[in-house]
Amino acid sequence: MKSLGLGILGSGRGSNCRAILEAIRAGTLPARACVVISDVIDAPILDIAREFSVPNAYLPPGQFRTRLEPNVESELVRMLRDAGVDLVVLAGFMRVLKAPMLEAFPRRIINIHPSLLPKFQGLQAWKQALAAGETVTGCTVHYVDDKIDHGDIIAQRQVPILPNDSAETLHARVQIAEHELYPAVIAQLCAKTS
Ligand code: GRF
Repeated sequence: MKSLGLGILGSGRGSNCRAILEAIRAGTLPARACVVISDVIDAPILDIAREFSVPNAYLPPGQFRTRLEPNVESELVRMLRDAGVDLVVLAGFMRVLKAPMLEAFPRRIINIHPSLLPKFQGLQAWKQALAAGETVTGCTVHYVDDKIDHGDIIAQRQVPILPNDSAETLHARVQIAEHELYPAVIAQLCAKTS
């Protein structure tokens, strides 16, 4: 099986990044963590990278709130290529990627979203599912395109919504499912490219 080089991008807590790095360390995910990059200077995801001795960097995002400045996005492409990245893994990265990244890594960027897409795109999707009175929600791993939480679906994992669930209890169970699903999907992609 070929070992895929991963570039993990995130803006926050990094619990999915931790799950991926733990799976690599445990030998259940035959991938290499090449680099972790964040647009937030003090994001815990960078501390997690350091804990696992993975090269990491803060990328100042520029003046926009929801995307990277084009020159910054081109710099991101350079950083990922220099690090030997085959697959870009979004793990709570809060910016929409545009042409520089999408053209540099066609069908080589994946994201995880806390709902059963196409339902409940956008922020706090588990809260949306709860408010809508759903009995089942879950998480989705999908290829990234130029729209938010959109793109071909690779895999989904269902999570039941229990009668007494709060947003917090539901979110916690969705995250447990994410931490199982994301490394497993990346392992499948590794197998496909071997
Ligand atoms: C996850 O819930 C993921 O579905 C969403 O962002 C969150 C990131 O969480 N895209 P973490 O930083 O991995 O803990």
